Amino acid sequence: VGRWASLRNGEARKVLWAGCAGRRRTMRSSARASVRPRAGAVCASASFASILFAPSFALDCAAAAFARRELCAPRGIPQASPPPVHEDVETILFTEAQIGAGIDRVAREVTAAYRGTGFTVVSVLKGSCVFASDLIRRIPIPLELAFVSASSYGSGVESGTLEVNFFPAESEIRGRDLLLVDDILDTGRTLARLVDEMKRRGARSVRTCVFLDKPARRATSFVADYRVFEVEDLFVVGYGLDFAGHYRNLPYVGALKRECYERPRSPAGR
Ligand code: IMP
Ligand code: MG
Repeated sequence: VGRWASLRNGEARKVLWAGCAGRRRTMRSSARASVRPRAGAVCASASFASILFAPSFALDCAAAAFARRELCAPRGIPQASPPPVHEDVETILFTEAQIGAGIDRVAREVTAAYRGTGFTVVSVLKGSCVFASDLIRRIPIPLELAFVSASSYGSGVESGTLEVNFFPAESEIRGRDLLLVDDILDTGRTLARLVDEMKRRGARSVRTCVFLDKPARRATSFVADYRVFEVEDLFVVGYGLDFAGHYRNLPYVGALKRECYERPRSPAGR
C-alpha cells in the first residue's frame, strides 16, 4: 500500500502502461484510455486491470486509493441534463427530483403504518403504474402487489362514467389489508367506488394513497390517507398521468396546454 500510495498519478499511469505492454493491442489502448491523471480514475481502472493483468496489481491500486479515501465514483462525469419540456406542456409542476423526494416521504409514512403486518398494494391501472412501482421500491417491509383497472375519463378531461375493467383475484382481497394506490384524486368517485367494492369483497382494511390530490374538483367527501402532492385545478400529464392515452412516459408532471385538449383531435404520435 505504501508503495502505491506514494506514487503520483503520472507515475501510476506509467506503471499501468507497462502492465499493458505484453498484452494485445486492443487491451493496451482501452487500458490507456481508461486512465486519467486523477487517482479516482486510476482506482476505477484497477478493477478493469484485475481482469487483464495480475490480481495483486489491482489489489495494490485499490488499497492505495482506499487509504486515500478515493474509492468513489470518478468525478468529472457529466450529470444527466434535465429532459426537454414537451411542446404540449405549459409548465412543469413537479420535477423528477421533487417527485423522488415526495415519494420518499410518503413511503416512510406507509412503512411506519404497515410495519409488522403483511399488506397488499393495489395499483389502479393504468395511471398509477409509474407511481406504484417507484413507491413499492421504497417500502422495505413485506408486501404483495395486485392491480385493479378503472377508467373514467375516456379521451376527454371531464369525469365520465366509471368503468371497472377488472379486479384482483378474490384470494388477493379477502382478509387482506389493502393499500389502494392511484395517480390522482380528482372528483373522488373512482377511489370511493373502489374502496366500497374492496370492502364488499372481504378486504380486512382499505387505505388509499394518491400521487396527486386535486381538492378543487372534489365531488365527494373522499379523503386519501396518504398523498404526495396537492395540485391546483389544472389538467396535468406525465409520470403515469395521461390525456387520451398519451404523455404517461414524461418523467415529470406538467400542466397540459389548453389548446391540446380543446382542439378536436387527439395529439398525434405522442
Ligand atoms: P376521479 O374519479 O374524478 O377522482 O378521477 C380519478 C381519475 O381521473 C384518475 O385516476 C385519473 O385517471 C383521471 N384524472 C383526473 N384528473 C386528471 C388530470 O389532471 N390528468 C390526468 N388524469 C386525470
Ligand atoms: Mg387513473
